[in-house]
Amino acid sequence: MMNGNHMKMEIPALGKNESFARNAVAGFAVECSPTVSEISDIKTAVSEAVTNAVVHAYDAERAENLIEICADIDDDGTLTVSVRDFGRGIEDVAAAREPFFTTKPDDERSGMGFTVIETFMDELTVDSEPGKGTTVVMRKRIGGNART
Ligand SMILES: Nc1ncnc2c1ncn2[C@@H]1O[C@H](COP(=O)(O)OP(=O)(O)OP(=O)(O)O)[C@@H](O)[C@H]1O
Ligand SMILES: [Mg+2]
Repeated sequence: MMNGNHMKMEIPALGKNESFARNAVAGFAVECSPTVSEISDIKTAVSEAVTNAVVHAYDAERAENLIEICADIDDDGTLTVSVRDFGRGIEDVAAAREPFFTTKPDDERSGMGFTVIETFMDELTVDSEPGKGTTVVMRKRIGGNART
């Protein structure tokens, strides 16, 4: 019944694009017939990843700093979303993924972004190279019970 689907978008790493990005991915995921709660999980996870690219990847908010977002739906209704930036990268990914780890403690950051993504999605991988950028890939099986 279902066929795979794919989308790719590129946006500047600007705070104002965070809501656009999460709503775009949520809109793309609609064909999986997600529940309200699944939609909310996806939006929250995308929001954390995009916010990280805006806040941490680049020195300042500039329109030439880019974020690339891809989303895929495979035949069994698994949604895969990747959020990639070309910024500073992460020295120690394992440490960064720990709850409460933050390099911006004074900026109202709590160090919970990656933990939130892990909680709301089924799978999270973080690939990063200092000086080159970071790719966050998250995966969630959608609407499993409703489909046969
Ligand atoms: N795209 C990125 N580029 C560079 N560093 C990043 C990126 N994403 C995360 N990090 C690093 O990983 C740390 C942990 O990220 P996480 O989202 O868990 O917490 P936070 O962003 O510091 O706080 P919160 O998400 O709770 O506001 C960040 O403080 C930052 O050092
Ligand atoms: Mg964060």
